[in-house]
Amino acid sequence: MITKISNLISENKSRENIEISGWVKTFRSNRFIALNDGSTINNLQCIIEYEKFNSDILKKITTGASLQVSGNLVESKGKGQTLELVVNKLTILGESDPELYPIQPKKHSYEFLREKAHLRIRTTTFNAVMRIRSVLSFAVHKFFQERNFYYLNSPIITGSDAEGAGEMFRVSTLKNNNTDFKSDFFGKETFLTVSGQLEAESYALGLGDVYTFGPTFRAENSNTSRHLSEFWMIEPEMAFYDLNDNINLAEKFIKHILRTILNKCSNDLAFLDQNYINEQKKKPLSERSDMGLIEKIKFVVENNFMRISYTDAIKILIHSKPNKKKKFKYIIEKWGCDLQSEHERFLVEKHFKCPVVLFDYPAKIKAFYMRLNEDNKTVRAMDILFPGVGEIVGGSQREERLEFLLKRMDEMNINKKELWWYIDLRRFGSVPHSGFGLGFERIVQFATGMSNIRDVIPFPRTPQNAEF
Ligand code: 4AD
Ligand code: MG
Repeated sequence: MITKISNLISENKSRENIEISGWVKTFRSNRFIALNDGSTINNLQCIIEYEKFNSDILKKITTGASLQVSGNLVESKGKGQTLELVVNKLTILGESDPELYPIQPKKHSYEFLREKAHLRIRTTTFNAVMRIRSVLSFAVHKFFQERNFYYLNSPIITGSDAEGAGEMFRVSTLKNNNTDFKSDFFGKETFLTVSGQLEAESYALGLGDVYTFGPTFRAENSNTSRHLSEFWMIEPEMAFYDLNDNINLAEKFIKHILRTILNKCSNDLAFLDQNYINEQKKKPLSERSDMGLIEKIKFVVENNFMRISYTDAIKILIHSKPNKKKKFKYIIEKWGCDLQSEHERFLVEKHFKCPVVLFDYPAKIKAFYMRLNEDNKTVRAMDILFPGVGEIVGGSQREERLEFLLKRMDEMNINKKELWWYIDLRRFGSVPHSGFGLGFERIVQFATGMSNIRDVIPFPRTPQNAEF
């Protein structure tokens, strides 16, 4: 039976006759192999007595090659590790030509590694990021399951544009410029979903509390460090919740999953913390974060999020500049305009210096399904803004009143025929309800300190890029 290096390290005691497998990180002095099997950030030092192995085998122990080794685990005499494996048997599982293997034991740029996304997981950084991603996703399920939310698998192929922004990828089997969708596979126009929210609303109005956690797709041409064309979203939807209940849940939820990685991923985080600090040093002083990564996560977990209405935020922004010399690129002139990420980041990073929940946005700049306030101007929307990544959550209390919904759909040119079933939900047993969407990669980005969202999803899809 192959033992995982993570188990050996957590047991931390000598053992005889163990067998491990992994990939060679480095091989020094024909004697010391640093082996990693992906189970932990720590390599296991394996010691071979080269006199015992023939030179053909020794030549094949190169960075990237895969090995199986067996021997005795003993206390290390060297520095840097407490245990090491004295190898008595070694098998090369897969060779790796050192002239051709792209992942050398040195620092590669993230841009370079993106082109080698099939091999970048062999690096310490991607290994750590993807372990944290996995722990975070399990924490998502644990949080909701412990609160009796039901996991809903909303459809990936849909006819409706949930956000009404028209940024959808068509799903079609039609050939030769045929646009007769009646003869298409589903007998109608279909797309990849931009959000599972509308279906989640239907299920919340029967199951009570549900959440989705699945891939969503947006055909927006945003080539930024925070946008993907395919990303994962968590969308809880709760019957009988108002906007405040919704915000409270979102805050608790985010803190829970971040606390989980502080507890479970301390070694990976310690490594990424160092990475983060080094990356910060490359930035101009004004853009540097004055906290380390772990410090930043703890700060979010331990402090209340600042809650402020859109109207109050605008008052602050009209009178502010991002710094003494510079103005905002988009000047906020009056109430009603949408915030750009520079404004969001100003509020979070400069003004309040903590996560910010903005609520009650102008109806005109938000989706059709949000509940209209008594002022007839604003809707019960909320966005949660985070340092570095900007908007991490978008949510709202939903419009549960039939006439109000129909009016908003008309005003915003939403296809009522397509959404007949959504309107039905307001006809039969409608109740107040709320929900939000957390962009999973944005929270992974925050939790790992990676500056580009393309480096926190295994195979990123972005405009002009769907390799692998
Ligand atoms: O604000 P959004 O568009 O809201 C919705 O989709 C609602 N249906 C959610 C709901 O109320 N159930 O998206 C929600 C979150 C954003 O706050 C952001 O974190 C993330 O999804 N997101 C993206 N992440 C990566 N790449 C993109 N292109 C993203 N667009 C949105
Ligand atoms: Mg949004």
